[in-house]
Amino acid sequence: MIAIRRLTLRDFRSYPSLDQRFAGRSVILSGPNGSGKTNLLEAISLLSPGRGLRSARLSDVRRQGAEGFGIGASLGGDEEPDETRLSIRSAPPRPERREARVDGEPASGPGVFLDYIALSWLTPAQDRLFVEGASERRRFLDRMTLTQDPAHARASSAYETAMRQRTAALTGPRAPDPRLLSVLETQMAEAGVAVAAARRTTAAMLARGYAALQEGAFPGAVVALEGMLEEALAERSASDVEAEFLETLAANRRRDAEAGRALSGPHRSDLHVTHADKDQPARLCSTGEQKALLIGLVLAGAAARKDSAEVPLVLLLDEVAAHLDADRREALAGILETLGCQAFMTGTDADLFAAWEGRAEHFAVRQGELVPLG
Ligand SMILES: Nc1ncnc2c1ncn2[C@@H]1O[C@H](COP(=O)(O)OP(=O)(O)OP(=O)(O)O)[C@@H](O)[C@H]1O
Ligand SMILES: [Mg+2]
Repeated sequence: MIAIRRLTLRDFRSYPSLDQRFAGRSVILSGPNGSGKTNLLEAISLLSPGRGLRSARLSDVRRQGAEGFGIGASLGGDEEPDETRLSIRSAPPRPERREARVDGEPASGPGVFLDYIALSWLTPAQDRLFVEGASERRRFLDRMTLTQDPAHARASSAYETAMRQRTAALTGPRAPDPRLLSVLETQMAEAGVAVAAARRTTAAMLARGYAALQEGAFPGAVVALEGMLEEALAERSASDVEAEFLETLAANRRRDAEAGRALSGPHRSDLHVTHADKDQPARLCSTGEQKALLIGLVLAGAAARKDSAEVPLVLLLDEVAAHLDADRREALAGILETLGCQAFMTGTDADLFAAWEGRAEHFAVRQGELVPLG
């Protein structure tokens, strides 16, 4: 299986430098608080679009006192472990810019590594996903969408850019040029419908994933999208929805100018998750049930793409074992093995990973070093 076979870090958070090879199986990282487990997962997460699993600014992830940082990962199979080399770095004078390379050649664009690796993650910070505001859920949905549709990164970024420019034009000191507004709104309508359509594909994919999982340890969920374009696409053609959205935007210029932002569009959408067996909204479920639902979503996403995806999926599961009882840990280890995707998992207690014996590589993390266990 294609997996991360080598990870190198330079001046990344607590790591002055690291050069670690992996066997291509799942990886367990155990160690005390503050030893660098989450940092390592975060480094890998920065190989996907956006700001990684901590939503950090790039100037915060470089090691304190260092001027820049570097992250490199080799992807490959048993025959050719270093088949593809992905790397990012940031350096002065532009610490917030990441320079990406594929096999040493500069690469750019909003979805820069999506043709090589898909990443999905769960962290303790997401434990409140179902009870907090829509924006984190939307981000979760969009990240999942990226794993099945790399073009989603381009459409999202085109939408955001056009929306920002429209807001700037509407709220600027001079009366906005109506022709400019039409151009920007046309871009928003086109990209916005692409964004909403891709999200709908993800929701359908999750439903397929649950059907494929057939696993009782993690509850099934019904996933519904709330959003003007997503809902309209359920009933009308993409071109009709695009034309309607364009009209809405043009009609709402004054309202949006007063609000200082666009009040309708796919940037306001939400993801509704219902615990299938209990027929209960996720936000009303217990803490442990919510955690199991989240893990189930990630696993359903992985299951849905198992036989079709051309790009390997790597899961980053921070502190995943802590919330699970022994049966669920056993089930998780089994499912990950069946899905055949590499997972990086962390925990403070090595004993929690007994179910992965023989199924994963296990390292103790000690002050910036990975020590093989067992
Ligand atoms: N920019 C930085 N430069 C240097 N050190 C940093 C930076 N950012 C974070 N750290 C340090 O990295 C250390 C390890 O953090 P990390 O979150 O990876 O620990 P962990 O092993 O996941 O711990 P826990 O079990 O508590 O989750 C922390 O002590 C933190 O202070
Ligand atoms: Mg941690």
